[in-house]
Amino acid sequence: MSCRILEPSTQNILAAAKRLQQGELVVLPTETVYGLGADATNDKAVANIYALKGRPTFNPLIVHVADTASAQHYVTFTPLAEMLAKVFWPGPLTLVLERQKGCKLSLLVSAGLDTVAIRVPAHPVALALIASANLPVAAPSANRSGKISPTQASHVVEEFCENPEELSILDGGACDIGVESTVVDARGELPIILRLGGVTPAMIEDVTGKKPVLPEAASKALHSPGMLESHYAPTLPLRLNATQPHSLEALLAFGPDAPECEHSLNLSPTGNVVEAAANLFAFLRELDKRPVKGIAAMPIPHEGLGLAINDRLARAARR
Ligand code: TXA
Ligand code: MG
Repeated sequence: MSCRILEPSTQNILAAAKRLQQGELVVLPTETVYGLGADATNDKAVANIYALKGRPTFNPLIVHVADTASAQHYVTFTPLAEMLAKVFWPGPLTLVLERQKGCKLSLLVSAGLDTVAIRVPAHPVALALIASANLPVAAPSANRSGKISPTQASHVVEEFCENPEELSILDGGACDIGVESTVVDARGELPIILRLGGVTPAMIEDVTGKKPVLPEAASKALHSPGMLESHYAPTLPLRLNATQPHSLEALLAFGPDAPECEHSLNLSPTGNVVEAAANLFAFLRELDKRPVKGIAAMPIPHEGLGLAINDRLARAARR
C-alpha cells in the first residue's frame, strides 16, 4: 500500500507543504470533505490530480487560499462576492468569479473557462498547510471520479491504496460538515447556486437579501459545466425514498421511526439534518461493504442541509 496517514504535527505539515512546493500531491482535511491537493500554479501537478482521480478534464477544480486578500490575487471580486466572503469565509462556500488577467493559476484548474472557483476552508490543518506552502492549493474531493467523497483519512486510503506513488494524507479527523461546499457563481448581482452544499440557500438569502437561483435553473442556463449527473456513487444500487428495506437490502435510515433491519445505519436517530450530513458519506461507504444486493435510503427532509443531502443521494442513485 502506498498511502501514508500522518498526524497533523507541525513537522508533518511542513513536510507536506514542501511536497506541494515540489509539485507533488498531498491529501488535506477540510471542514467539508478531504481534498486531493496540488500547487494550483503548477500545470503538471494539477494534471496529476486529474490523472489520479480519473476525472474528465472538463470538470474544473476548486482553488483553496488562506484568506480573502489572497483570493483577490486570482479573481475579480464583485460586491456580491465581498458580502458572501465576509460572512462565510473561512467556511463551506466556494465562489465562482472572473479569473484575474495574467494570474498565475494553471489554466487547467479552470479547465478552459475564464472563471475560477475559489474558497477559504475552515479547517486549521488545511489553513496551516496553505500558509506554510504559501501557495494556492487546487483540491477536488480526494476520491476517484464519480465515487463517494471521503470524510475520514481512512476513506482516502480505500480510494487510492493502489496508487503507484506514495500519497501523504494529513489526518484531521472526521470532517465536521461532511458534504462539499456550496458553489455559487457570484459574478453578477444575483447569487447563482451551481452546487448545493454546506451553506444553505436560506443562509445566502439572509446575508444578501436576494433569492439565490437554484441549481436546476442554473444548469438549464448552462452555468455549471462540470456538474456530472452521476456522482458520489456506491458500488451497490441505491433506492431512494424507501420506507422499508426489501430483503437483501441494507438501510440508510433517518429519524426516530426507522424500521429494524440487520444492515442498517441511522444518519440521525433524532432526525437532525446537520448530523445526517456529517454521517452521509461514511455510512454510504460502510453499507456498500455489507453482504447485500442494494441500499435503500429513507427520505430526508428537504430543508437546510437536507437539500445538499438529497442532491448527493439523487446523484448517487443515478447510474
Ligand atoms: O467542499 C469542497 O468543495 C471540496 C473540498 C475539498 O474543498 N472540494 C470539492 O471539489 O468538492 P470538487 O472538485 O470535487 O468539486 C468542484 C465543483 C464541481 O462541481 C465543479 O464543476 C465546480 O466546483 N467548479 C469548479 N470550478 C468551476 C468554475 N470555474 N465554474 C463553475 N463550476 C466550477
Ligand atoms: Mg467531488
